[in-house]
Amino acid sequence: MSTNAPVAAPAKVVKTFRVLRFDPAKDKAPRWHEFKLPCDPMERVLTALNRIKWEQDGSMTYRRSCGHAVCGSCGMTIQGASRLACKTLVKDIEGDVIEVQPLKGFPVIKDLVVDMEHFYHNLRSVQPYLITSSPKPVKERRQSPEQFDLIDDASKCILCGCCTSSCPSFWKNDSYLGPAALLKAWRFIGDSRDEAKSERIDAVNGRNGVWRCHTIFNCKEACPKEIDIPAALSQLKRAVVFGSVA
Ligand code: SF4
Ligand code: SF4
Ligand code: FES
Repeated sequence: MSTNAPVAAPAKVVKTFRVLRFDPAKDKAPRWHEFKLPCDPMERVLTALNRIKWEQDGSMTYRRSCGHAVCGSCGMTIQGASRLACKTLVKDIEGDVIEVQPLKGFPVIKDLVVDMEHFYHNLRSVQPYLITSSPKPVKERRQSPEQFDLIDDASKCILCGCCTSSCPSFWKNDSYLGPAALLKAWRFIGDSRDEAKSERIDAVNGRNGVWRCHTIFNCKEACPKEIDIPAALSQLKRAVVFGSVA
């Protein structure tokens, strides 16, 4: 018997996408728009939004680029949770209605596009790059696999903002650096090659730094790269207390 029999395509399901829209040029307040769309259950929410934009309403606005959970542009609130639209499958959302809103806690520019300036400001404040003062080596600043292991998880961050948008401490006080900036601070404090550790530790030890994290774990659930952010922030707290990487 042939094993090459054609496999039937999965049946399409009609979903209603409820999208929270806001156009500052026209609207006084955000409003819900509904779009019906037959979807393949394995289709990504981003693909569905693209089809809505291209086939039903070209004015719907959102960010996207890579489509493969690499660029971090398509963070949004899908069915109440911060997620990447390009990593969320239609079949992963229960029910006939898929609710899409901008990332929580960020000012809205238009529809699903939020203003990330404050997020980047916080990121810049932790100096997200290697700082060294010792003479340049002939070739490169080397790191052993064991040394890299300490920051491997934190190095996977794509700066999508989903963690910061899910953090109750950030909702209460947007001066809080937030999980993404603190994770980045840890990524360099934990880096065996970095030579600015005490300066970095001072930067996260202020009123709006790492002590505002109450280990609520929302950030870990939201992270599309499955980074254990609370564990990294615990290591960061230890580094602040002991003045060095334990
Ligand atoms: S663990 Fe900390 S950073 Fe993460 S959501 Fe909770 S309070 Fe925010
Ligand atoms: S830690 Fe995860 S959720 Fe937060 S910005 Fe980086 S990739 Fe996004
Ligand atoms: S489009 Fe790049 S992460 Fe989703």
